Amino acid sequence: MHSAFETEAIEAAIPITLVTKASWEAIRADLSATAQQFARASNFTGKAGHCLPLPAADGTIAQVLFGVDDPASCRHDRFRAGQLPGLLPPGVYRFADTSHDMRLAVLAFALGSYRFGRYRTIDAANVRLVPPADVDIAAISRMAEAAALARDLINTPANDMGPEDLEQAARTLAERFGARFSSIVGDDLKRQNFPLIHAVGMASTRAPRLIDFTWGNPAHPKVTLVGKGVCFDTGGVDLKPASGMLIMKKDMGGAANVLALAQMIMDAGLRIRLRVLIPAVENSVAGNAFRPLDIFPSRKGPTVEIGNTDAEGRLVLADALALADEESPDLLIDLGTLTGAARVALGPDLPPFYTGDDALAAEVARCAAEENDPVWRMPLWGPYDAWLDSKVGNINNAPSNGFAGSITCALFLQRFVERASNWLHFDIYGWTPTAKPGRPEGGECQAARALYRLLSQRYG
Ligand code: BES
Ligand code: MN
Ligand code: ZN
Repeated sequence: MHSAFETEAIEAAIPITLVTKASWEAIRADLSATAQQFARASNFTGKAGHCLPLPAADGTIAQVLFGVDDPASCRHDRFRAGQLPGLLPPGVYRFADTSHDMRLAVLAFALGSYRFGRYRTIDAANVRLVPPADVDIAAISRMAEAAALARDLINTPANDMGPEDLEQAARTLAERFGARFSSIVGDDLKRQNFPLIHAVGMASTRAPRLIDFTWGNPAHPKVTLVGKGVCFDTGGVDLKPASGMLIMKKDMGGAANVLALAQMIMDAGLRIRLRVLIPAVENSVAGNAFRPLDIFPSRKGPTVEIGNTDAEGRLVLADALALADEESPDLLIDLGTLTGAARVALGPDLPPFYTGDDALAAEVARCAAEENDPVWRMPLWGPYDAWLDSKVGNINNAPSNGFAGSITCALFLQRFVERASNWLHFDIYGWTPTAKPGRPEGGECQAARALYRLLSQRYG
């Protein structure tokens, strides 16, 4: 990955002054008469997102003014500086002031420098930042590189990101950090008792698999991450309409974010025994596809009736969670792009999460706020669990009433977690529909930075 940072030539770097509407008057007063006139002629008023390079007498850029949000505004975007890489002319820059949250500004700058360049050359300007001396640039680069990994994996279309490609990406990461890697592929899933992963993935010519790697000192607390790796979700026989299917290359967003989180954990050398499990499948349509009202056993035991073949994510996660749960991890975390209902409830940028542990939920919320990686707790509402009852099997994967879809999905998954001391479930969107500061349109890293902070604090 191309780094957004420049660690030399500090004196030559062009200073960027962050301006709010409130601070503009005072900042303006300190400028030369020419610069004041130039700002006036350019109609610069410190409006958030406005960027004004001020020329020096010789025509070079002397400094840059950049409007950021008033912190009191309800629209305050703490990643505003993430717009800078897309606005600045080529050059080497530094932040002039330290009155704002510089760590988040630098992180936003790095996240906003991301471009997806796999299929065409990107002519992005060479805009680089000399980071302030007091920010931990290694920590920020670790986060930006992890976000780029998640985004690249999600943005890569399904023809180049099938179950085997996803396995290769996981293997590359595991090998880089000396993790022990294995995978169970195709009919072996049935032989080794992963009936639901097999059922969902068998209709694709690209074999389903369960990716599994383990890293770290076995004596350290066990943390297991499980990510939904549906490389493309057609909906199966309950086929999605074209509009609903369009961006389903992102349906491995849980897996992508689990890999991003694993990369941060291993790179930082956290004191945990990490295990990563990714059920990687393609939910396709074919003569041998699973059907509505089919019934399959699950790894854990209960028989699962298929109410809808489009509720496939919870099926593959159920078998992976059951395996994870068998070794009673200290903390079990799963991420997946599981329901349209989550997006309806909270929108694309605020993934719901679920846990039965109030103290853990509060910790997650705090870490999410500190990293500007927002998530919102939703309830494992017990009374709705009855909606999952099946008349002919033990559980149905898709309640027919259509209510509280993200909650009932979480309740479905909860049935497969029993022994883990703590369980966290995230129903992410994994995608930025329209670009925002620090968040280019396309695949998105969600919840991984918040979770990395949580794990660093618990096990650093
Ligand atoms: N991958 C989808 C969920 C999804 C859809 C996420 C659109 C983001 C945007 C998932 O597999 C799915 O199709 N879920 C169904 C479940 C339903 C059939 C119970 C849904 O949400 O409609
Ligand atoms: Mn689906
Ligand atoms: Zn899906």
